[in-house]
Amino acid sequence: MKPGDPHAVRELFDSIAPRYDQLNDLLSLGLHRVWKRQAVRWLQPAPGQQLIDLCCGTGDLALLLAAKLRPGGSVLGLDAAAAPLAIAQQRSVRQPWLPVRWQQGDALATGLATGRFDGAVMAYGLRNLNAPGPGLQELRRLLRPGGRAAVLDFNRPDPATPAGAAAASFQQLYLRRLVVPAARRFGLPEQYSYLEASLERFPRAADQEALARSAGFTHVRHRPLMGGLMGLLQLVA
Ligand SMILES: C[S@@+](CC[C@H](N)C(=O)[O-])C[C@H]1O[C@@H](n2cnc3c(N)ncnc32)[C@H](O)[C@@H]1O
Repeated sequence: MKPGDPHAVRELFDSIAPRYDQLNDLLSLGLHRVWKRQAVRWLQPAPGQQLIDLCCGTGDLALLLAAKLRPGGSVLGLDAAAAPLAIAQQRSVRQPWLPVRWQQGDALATGLATGRFDGAVMAYGLRNLNAPGPGLQELRRLLRPGGRAAVLDFNRPDPATPAGAAAASFQQLYLRRLVVPAARRFGLPEQYSYLEASLERFPRAADQEALARSAGFTHVRHRPLMGGLMGLLQLVA
């Protein structure tokens, strides 16, 4: 499939939704939870705040945030695909005390009011958008001045440096030798080969920082995680 094609991306995530969480735990050895907690730490969620999780998928990060917002606050989880949202909904029904709502929509054009949120997260979403620059602009638009955002995703190491070259080789090995074969056992090899294809067009750290600055963020820092295999873009509107 063509990376960034909105229709194909939606179909892809609809098709992997039933296995998504299981594969995420397996392929990251549970570490995606640690990286998501790092995104939450940057956001510093506080009771009463209104937060948004863009590209929320099956909703684990939105629920993690919701637990920190009572009393008075809430999280809106937004995703383009119906199947992951249905799983998110089932999850939140089991924890009815958590203030979270789900909405199907496009992270590039949410239609939500400007400056409506105190903070935002986007985990493994930016790489899947048709264009990362407009994605960061919409993210910025949704935040009040001073609001924080955390954008977590795979990092694209720079092979020009020895450390970057090592991380890039390891990442390629990981994607080809572990991710795709494991996904094959679940009948989803093509869906997970998309990961490497999507990374090839994903801006590197410095380019992400430049895009975030042009989107109007006043504080911008890309922090490599896990030896540069993942990255956390820390932003202040
Ligand atoms: C890799 S999943 C990440 C899900 C979740 N945030 C997580 O970290 O587990 C990417 C999600 O982005 C969603 N997505 C892709 N393009 C989107 C768009 N234009 N608007 C909203 N969601 C989108 C997909 O449907 C999918 O659920």
